[in-house]
Amino acid sequence: MSKKPYVIIVSEVTLDGKLTLYRGASSKELMSLMTKEVYKYLHQIRAEVDGIMVGCETVRTDDPSLTVRYVEGKSPVRIIPCSTANVPLNANIFSQDAPTIIVTTKRAPQERIKKIEELGAEVMVVGEELVDFPKLLPLLYEKGIKKLMVEGGSSINWEFVRNRLVDEIRIIHLPVVIGGENVPTFVGGEGFKSLKKLLRLEIKKHFVIDEFLITEWKVKKD
Ligand SMILES: NC(=O)c1ccc[n+]([C@@H]2O[C@H](COP(=O)([O-])OP(=O)(O)OC[C@H]3O[C@@H](n4cnc5c(N)ncnc54)[C@H](OP(=O)(O)O)[C@@H]3O)[C@@H](O)[C@H]2O)c1
Repeated sequence: MSKKPYVIIVSEVTLDGKLTLYRGASSKELMSLMTKEVYKYLHQIRAEVDGIMVGCETVRTDDPSLTVRYVEGKSPVRIIPCSTANVPLNANIFSQDAPTIIVTTKRAPQERIKKIEELGAEVMVVGEELVDFPKLLPLLYEKGIKKLMVEGGSSINWEFVRNRLVDEIRIIHLPVVIGGENVPTFVGGEGFKSLKKLLRLEIKKHFVIDEFLITEWKVKKD
């Protein structure tokens, strides 16, 4: 298999496994519970990776900057999978603070690709219907992305879990419960539905920052 980046999924998750207050809500509101020290932990990881990825839906709902702000360090390359390149042209990910790559598919209209390129971002076409992650990862590695942080949301997390492209998972446990059947959880998608297929992990580290438990897990390779 070609070389791929070392992938760390990092997520802020409530005690009941949720990523945001309700479907369609920006997780920024929930994140406002986090203290400065917890943000430093998160941004320290950003400062140590070459690339950072969030799904297109997270860009549309949260409009994150994905830069390093709470610690010293260089911001990683922002990588956004977006199957039709339907990303707002005024999104914060197009700021000049760091390079940005929009990964799209053959379904993306040429004129939208052109507009994104005019903003100074790179566009990669990898996939037919949806972004093809097993194909994308070796291409990112060739571009110098040796360590990739994936910050959600739940659909993108599932793609990495399903394709067994994740090496580590780090969770900031938010000490709250939200409830709600349809609220996005840490990993979405179809689910494995079988004990044999589960992604298995071993705990590497756990500690508390302020009142937030942090757990760091390594994926057991099959
Ligand atoms: N708590 C946290 O740590 C955290 C972190 C991030 C996000 N969130 C929250 O999570 C929610 C968003 O999660 P989400 O699951 O709806 O969206 P998401 O994972 O952020 O993005 C999914 C989108 O990515 C695009 N995509 C491209 N290729 C894909 C592929 N192969 N498979 C799946 N998607 C692909 C699709 O958009 P196109 O159809 O446009 O291609 C799809 O709708 C928001 O509420 C956000 O606030 C929370």
